[in-house]
Amino acid sequence: MIALLKALHIISFSIWMAGLMMLAVLMQVHGRRPEMRTQPGFDEFRWLTHYGYTAVVTPAAVIAIAAGTVLIFAQGVLVPWMLAKLTAVAGLVLLHAWLGHLIVEVGEGHGSYRVPHVGLSLVVMLPLIGGVLWLVLAKPDLDALIAVLPDILHAPRGRDIPAFLDPL
Ligand code: HEM
Repeated sequence: MIALLKALHIISFSIWMAGLMMLAVLMQVHGRRPEMRTQPGFDEFRWLTHYGYTAVVTPAAVIAIAAGTVLIFAQGVLVPWMLAKLTAVAGLVLLHAWLGHLIVEVGEGHGSYRVPHVGLSLVVMLPLIGGVLWLVLAKPDLDALIAVLPDILHAPRGRDIPAFLDPL
């Protein structure tokens, strides 16, 4: 069962990450071309980005996150490297949302919207992907890093642990 979940996770995050990179490159290379100002050019670009985003990349992201979330509890890995990984994944989710926003702008702009230099997002995206892969595969001991975090992030804020979590 775990092997199946992992396989699902790996297949879906691979499609998700490849899709994010593909969208950034596609929008950079084709979204700024003069052909975008012709009806066939606009149609093709719109079709690729809209269906790529809504039918492939976003469903893959949802499946990757759902399978990963189940794996956290199935594997018992709510540990510092996993929290660091989730922080990096949050950055990827933000990029995902930004690309979606640009696709909507292109669609609603009817050819008049000028796509920004989306390719630059790869400068952030690729290190984030590399960081996620390193964290999850090397599983580094981040205790030293946790220790230097501000006190506020270690303090329980004066509240008792919820009763349903108290084993006694
Ligand atoms: C919210 C999103 C995600 C969650 C909750 C999540 C969670 C998990 C969990 C719990 C595991 C099993 C760790 C273990 O027991 O060793 C795992 C494995 C893994 N995840 Fe994710 N993950 C997420 C997104 C991603 C993304 C975006 C990537 C790639 C960029 C990724 C790459 C991997 C890799 C490479 C493995 C190792 C698989 C193996 O053990 O061979 N994950 N993930």
